[in-house]
Amino acid sequence: MKVLIVGSGGREHAIALAVSKSPKVEKIYCCPGNAGIARIAECTDIKAMEFDKIVFHAKEKKVDLVIVGPDDPLVGGLVDALEDAGIRAFGPRRNAAVIEGSKAFSKELMKKYDIPTAQYATFDNAADALKYLDSAKFPTVLKADGLALGKGVLICNTLDEARNGIKEIMLDKKFGTAGNKVVIEEFLEGREVSVLTFCDGKTIKVMSSAQDHKRALDNDEGLNTGGMGTFSPSPFYTKKVDDFCKKYIYKPTVDAMAAEGRPFKGVIFFGLMLTKDGPKVLEYNARFGDPEAQVVLPRMKNDIIDVCEACIDGTLSKLKLEFEDNAAVCVVLASKGYPLKYERGFVIKGLESFDDRDGYYCFHAGTKKTTKGIVTNGGRVLGVTAKGETLKKARANAYEAVKWIEFDNKYCRSDIGKAIDEA
Ligand code: AMP
Ligand code: GLY
Repeated sequence: MKVLIVGSGGREHAIALAVSKSPKVEKIYCCPGNAGIARIAECTDIKAMEFDKIVFHAKEKKVDLVIVGPDDPLVGGLVDALEDAGIRAFGPRRNAAVIEGSKAFSKELMKKYDIPTAQYATFDNAADALKYLDSAKFPTVLKADGLALGKGVLICNTLDEARNGIKEIMLDKKFGTAGNKVVIEEFLEGREVSVLTFCDGKTIKVMSSAQDHKRALDNDEGLNTGGMGTFSPSPFYTKKVDDFCKKYIYKPTVDAMAAEGRPFKGVIFFGLMLTKDGPKVLEYNARFGDPEAQVVLPRMKNDIIDVCEACIDGTLSKLKLEFEDNAAVCVVLASKGYPLKYERGFVIKGLESFDDRDGYYCFHAGTKKTTKGIVTNGGRVLGVTAKGETLKKARANAYEAVKWIEFDNKYCRSDIGKAIDEA
């Protein structure tokens, strides 16, 4: 069969690699893809939000299945556009992707169906939000309602910071229309875990857990980023936590979406905080995490095509989802200056070191093929991933592999997966 993947990051490279392992797949296309994906897929310069062009391309190439990676096209309704044109697509329709697209929606859903989450209030005007802050406890958390490139969450330690945050989000429109509404919520303390799941509208199956490191610098210092590295599984995600989440969080979420007439098919990514009062939902995402996919998918034993088809056909209950009994660590190699200002266009050396090396992967995030060779083309450049029997070994392997790659202004965190040693 022919498969088209939509997106251009490390997550889509990990999806493309999983797809390439399926004996059912004869050809992979990607819109727009990147220099790494181009080694296993035919990439075409169509952006993820160019729905008409994607539908046309899928029809023209007689694609059997489209897998949509990023949040923007999912929330914008790319799956609806594809299905309406008679093309099979993996991912939630727009009315279900709202679980990520609107924090006000997701908080209301959790409240209505009694799913554990932080206490909160929603506002659609700055004056009321500012008044509410006068009686809030600090730190407090402000969240722009809509998609904001992962930057719409502000943790405010003081009333002044929070007032300024409301001004930025609601009045200055720092995140555009995403800030038309704001959620103000209780600050939760604990360990964060990312749990990716497959859903077919009724049944939910849990993938191996992961943890992201969002801050730019070691010891969780520096600015928030899209993610500087991940490890899987999380030692803090115990059987007890899993049992609790299945009963009180995962199944209730899928049932709630179905009850609301918004059956969810695709990946729900649960951002959880393991608090002293039990696990609580920090956020829902309607897609694979990036860079979580880079440590979870290489460990999945199932053929990803079988899983995607079961989600689309509503037959997930018949499928046994299986993961290798090992671990993986992904270290993001970024360009110095990320997430603020950084330069592009430096030649990347050492990529061939990963060829034919089992258990080592170099997922491309921001790269470009030029006449000089493959060059850096983004803040996050590569996701160097390695497996190992244990998390400690996976971590040692990943940091060994980090040394194989060279480019000017390369930087990475040196403590990805360090939490492992504390567990
Ligand atoms: P989100 O985009 O909702 O995942 O938020 C981004 C990050 O902000 C999360 O990964 C957490 O680190 C942090 N965060 C979000 N909500 C809360 C909360 N209620 N309490 C503490 N930290 C939070
Ligand atoms: N790694 C967090 C995300 O994909 O949103």
